[in-house]
Amino acid sequence: MIGGWQLAVAYAPGQPASASTTALRLLSVASFASTARGAVDLEFRLAIGTVRIRTRMRISYFTGRTILITGASSGLGSEFARQLARVAARLVLVARRDDRLQALQTELKAKNTALEVFVRSVDLRDQRELQSFCDWLDESGLAPDFLINNAGLGDHGPFIDSEWERVNSLLQVNINALTYLTFRVLPIIKKTGRGLILNVSSIASFLPLPNNAVYAATKAYVTSFSEAIRAELRSSNVSVTLLCPGPVTTDYLSHATRAGDRAGHTAPFLLVSVEEVVRQALDAAVKDRARVVPGALVNFVMTIVGSLPMFIKRLVYRTRLSRSKPH
Ligand SMILES: NC(=O)c1ccc[n+]([C@@H]2O[C@H](COP(=O)([O-])OP(=O)(O)OC[C@H]3O[C@@H](n4cnc5c(N)ncnc54)[C@H](OP(=O)(O)O)[C@@H]3O)[C@@H](O)[C@H]2O)c1
Repeated sequence: MIGGWQLAVAYAPGQPASASTTALRLLSVASFASTARGAVDLEFRLAIGTVRIRTRMRISYFTGRTILITGASSGLGSEFARQLARVAARLVLVARRDDRLQALQTELKAKNTALEVFVRSVDLRDQRELQSFCDWLDESGLAPDFLINNAGLGDHGPFIDSEWERVNSLLQVNINALTYLTFRVLPIIKKTGRGLILNVSSIASFLPLPNNAVYAATKAYVTSFSEAIRAELRSSNVSVTLLCPGPVTTDYLSHATRAGDRAGHTAPFLLVSVEEVVRQALDAAVKDRARVVPGALVNFVMTIVGSLPMFIKRLVYRTRLSRSKPH
């Protein structure tokens, strides 16, 4: 135990086996099991296997809360709901795919019979649907004290080849819906007396990303907006935390890949599990941290990349793009 942080190194055979990785995995020397409830796994996926650092996460902090989660039909959003369902009093789950939300509702209620789960099928691209959802929320008297602005989508490929409908979806969901929901829910959260907002951005928000131009720009908005309102709310009872994940295995990548394009892939050693990202995000919210970049390796890489001057980044862009197909 180091200052309240319980450290453990564990070997987990998470990577597909190959002769070289199996040999390297043998280098993994220690395995300590932690049974602490609510422990947080900080997971580095390395070629040699998986190294875990465990810390305590006070899930009890969310006991009795009413939590609104957008994008709850899959990926990070579903996982937020799963982890919080143990202790929350009420969950309001929002996405378009009603069948998935209802399946999740059944699953969560089976695990915690005292939990109330409200599911709302809302297309966050549509301002009228967004507005009527917020009206419903007002009328319901549910009064969330924790808002998780998680819904989002990407679009991989050159901007010149993009479809406007897709670009507009990114602008509406990643920027407009997040801002409007915060605008409508923040006054309610303030009245509850001890509120939290967790905005899901991305490491893509830290630098311009060619072939992800609109996505990275929308996430830069989320990062800037969240830091600014956090500062504004510092003397209030509302805390704002920003989650900036690197690559996570969800449906995100397949949805972000354009029709006819080869599915994108990410460096496996940078991948952090969905469970891990959510645990670290909730831990950061409990501790009132300004932002969290889950995964020590991702954090390290982004610290270096983020500190590079823009002219170096431009050189890297030029070199990388000159190798791809010209337009
Ligand atoms: N996965 C990664 O590598 C990664 C990395 C950095 C940041 N992020 C961010 O993490 C967040 C969650 O993404 P994920 O990885 O969990 O991907 P995901 O599994 O594709 O989940 C995206 C969620 O957003 C919802 N959504 C998308 N468009 C919507 C719309 N028009 N109206 C309502 N809901 C909508 C989806 O629900 P429906 O389709 O049912 O509507 C789904 O629940 C996003 O903000 C993403 O940008 C992801």
